[in-house]
Amino acid sequence: MSRIVHLNGQFLPEEEARVSIFDRGFVFADGVYEVTAVINGKFVDYDPHMQRLERSLKELDMAWPCSKEELRAVHEDLVKHNGLEEGRVYMQVTRGVAERDFAYPANTPASLMAFTQAAVTIANPKALTGVATISIPDIRWKRRDIKSIALLAQCMGKQRAAEAGAYEAWMVEDGHITEGTSSSAYIVKDGRVITRPLSNAILPGVTRRALMRLAADYQIIIEERGFTLAEVLGADEAFITSASSFIMPVVRMDGQEIGTGKPGPVTKKLREVYIAAAVAAH
Ligand code: PDD
Repeated sequence: MSRIVHLNGQFLPEEEARVSIFDRGFVFADGVYEVTAVINGKFVDYDPHMQRLERSLKELDMAWPCSKEELRAVHEDLVKHNGLEEGRVYMQVTRGVAERDFAYPANTPASLMAFTQAAVTIANPKALTGVATISIPDIRWKRRDIKSIALLAQCMGKQRAAEAGAYEAWMVEDGHITEGTSSSAYIVKDGRVITRPLSNAILPGVTRRALMRLAADYQIIIEERGFTLAEVLGADEAFITSASSFIMPVVRMDGQEIGTGKPGPVTKKLREVYIAAAVAAH
């Protein structure tokens, strides 16, 4: 059975959802997106995702495709139509259809597209063993705080990771890790969690925000500062966070073990309390 997807106000079987070749998302990657996790048919941190969407749209002078209430209904109806219990909803807004011209067209209605992806996120077996990462140069643009659909550098990185048998690639700029291709990056040293402060260099992760709050509740200190590849290799633990992985232990970098080479106690605790809080929030 094919999925029911959403396109510009309509729910359709995925085969029937068609977009113009002149859509600026297709021609210029002129669009922004969000990925919101679903557990037990309910959204995790829906509001912060939509706040980030609002910011991304504003930074690009892009219009909302519909009202906030309608967008919430699109998310909820997609989950219902597809009987989604666990996984995520992907949604993107593009600047719409216009003759190819670089500057923004006047008065073009934004396009909205959204679909569900089923995924085992809580009982993901990778969380038990941890995953491997590789390091790559960060070749992205300088506005990584905008959740843009222009993700070619990330696709290149993820492909290199896949070829190396790794789950994620951590990007390095000026000797410091920025983030994963589709996740925020952390190390743990002497019980303290270290992660880069928010700036234009990284995406402000919604899972990162939730983790910060939980760490405060559990008296786990988070140090917001840049860290080097040498610090990753000398760390006790490492992990990533995202709406699709939640909190995922990282146990290898560039083929070398991190810490014991197994998920460590701080990462395990944070994953456990994150999932408990996400489930309880319903
Ligand atoms: N990616 N950094 C980057 C570059 C990302 O693409 C993502 C998310 C994150 C984590 O953000 P959040 O915790 O809000 O998911 C950090 C999504 C999952 C994706 O592109 O599929």
